[in-house]
Amino acid sequence: MDPFARLADLERRADEGGGERRRRRQHESGRLTARERIDLLFDPGSFQEIDRFVTHRCTDFGMQAEQVPGDGVVAGHGLVDGRQVWAFAQDFTVFGGSLSETNAAKIVKIMDLAVKMGAPIVGLNDSGGARIQEGVLSLGGYADIFLRNTLASGVVPQLSAIMGPCAGGAVYSPALTDFTIMVEGTSYMFVTGPDVIKAVTHEEVTKEALGGAMTHNAKSGVAHFAVPDDRACLQLIRELLGYLPSNNLDEPPPGPTTDPIDRESPELDTLIPTQSSQPYDMRRLIHAVVDDGAFLEVQQHFARNIVVGFARLGGRSVGIVANQPAVLAGCLDIDASVKAARFVRFCDAFNIPLVTFEDVPGFLPGVAQEHGGIIRAGAKLLYAFAEASVPKVTIITRKAYGGAYCVMASKHLRTDFNFAYPTAEIAVMGPEAAVNILYREEIAEAGDPAAERQRRAQELRERLANPFVAAARGFVDGIIQPRATRRVLITALEACRTKRERMPSRKHGNIPL
Ligand code: HXC
Repeated sequence: MDPFARLADLERRADEGGGERRRRRQHESGRLTARERIDLLFDPGSFQEIDRFVTHRCTDFGMQAEQVPGDGVVAGHGLVDGRQVWAFAQDFTVFGGSLSETNAAKIVKIMDLAVKMGAPIVGLNDSGGARIQEGVLSLGGYADIFLRNTLASGVVPQLSAIMGPCAGGAVYSPALTDFTIMVEGTSYMFVTGPDVIKAVTHEEVTKEALGGAMTHNAKSGVAHFAVPDDRACLQLIRELLGYLPSNNLDEPPPGPTTDPIDRESPELDTLIPTQSSQPYDMRRLIHAVVDDGAFLEVQQHFARNIVVGFARLGGRSVGIVANQPAVLAGCLDIDASVKAARFVRFCDAFNIPLVTFEDVPGFLPGVAQEHGGIIRAGAKLLYAFAEASVPKVTIITRKAYGGAYCVMASKHLRTDFNFAYPTAEIAVMGPEAAVNILYREEIAEAGDPAAERQRRAQELRERLANPFVAAARGFVDGIIQPRATRRVLITALEACRTKRERMPSRKHGNIPL
């Protein structure tokens, strides 16, 4: 056969994947094909595919007759907003996107190249897991990928999109990566599906309830984003990459903005209610302060009592961690601690400064929290903030009570700049709780116990629950007007540009997992 005709034939077969019938089924289910996804992920015309003609080597189960060039995964590199990114997209039309020995080798190859070149890795997952016909060869292929995921962690950003039913090994690789995005209605993640669960535990559950996008975004916390369809998913990956550096030695790319660095936000002077038990939405403060009001919230449906995400200040990427007084009064619980700790560690690994907005009455009290390990979970966040050596700036907007004061990037954890609003309350506990411990007898013996309690609480508030004691000690560097928050933050971050902070030499620390 003429070599050019042979090449054309191979290219046609590679493009066809599992054939017209299966591609139609993919579209009917509301999903795009692997190649369509790759086209939408990359800048037009920039994708360079590699290993397009690789085929599987399985000779059992009549598999020789079913060889598709590319073997069910499209892999290569291209540009996202002009920056190099490596990606693989599993093709569900070829053996359900399942992972074979050779298909795994393709993924491993681009992962190794991405780490060598210092560029992010994006995985578009749509796979039934290990290819059953290949047995241990496909399991080995997964383990090879898991090893690469682990070695690449903290070196290049790794993003996973779940764009179809993903089972078995197809969920563990995403779990090892930095961010997981799920498409609502068409994507699922589970280690074992509903049928196996029914057989083993007799529980009946739908795929959606077991491992759908909202299950993993709101309940398990396994996923970080939920998007309505494939297009939104690929657009979100592009947006997210815009906040991230290409690797751990690079800085995040600057984001162009015309938002003045000294822009005041007068609305912030009245955002925080004078009544300390009144809730407010911390996201309003974040939007008011960051460049052009643009905030990409991460895990917005999970542990909503803490808000984390990316924004820019003066054109520079920052990671924001903020207590949310509108949910559980902003208390830190197990889920919030784990969510924030993981985000802090990501930012620290990738040179993204941390901005913390603090309004926290303490850790959530309760038997379930104690028995669930709030001590260990809270320690994760403490560890993450203490360990982080990127620029750190904290603003105490209202409450900073007890252990939570220490945890939320306090000055004592090597935070570079700490500020407080004039109405901040920094103390061991709230005045109302404190009077019951300090003045129990005096209150009981008073003619009017309620009035006495109130008088004592007011006295404590004035003496202890304010920012002035901390400011007198230098635990906060300044007390600022809320309207000036943006300017203060940008000035502080600018001063941190040349920051150098060394950790003691060791193999690695032992974060309380
Ligand atoms: C080979 C597979 C396959 C697999 C699906 N297919 N999964 N082929 N190996 N693992 C094939 C089907 O035979 C079918 O081929 C095509 O893909 C589409 O599958 P359907 O079942 O028709 O699709 P759907 O109804 O959408 O269901 C998708 C699915 C289901 C939920 C993913 O196929 C499924 O449950 N697959 C098995 C999942 C699983 O248990 N995998 C092994 C996990 S163990 P045709 O020819 O009809 O198109 C694992 C261990 C790793 O991964 C280690 C982890 C630590």
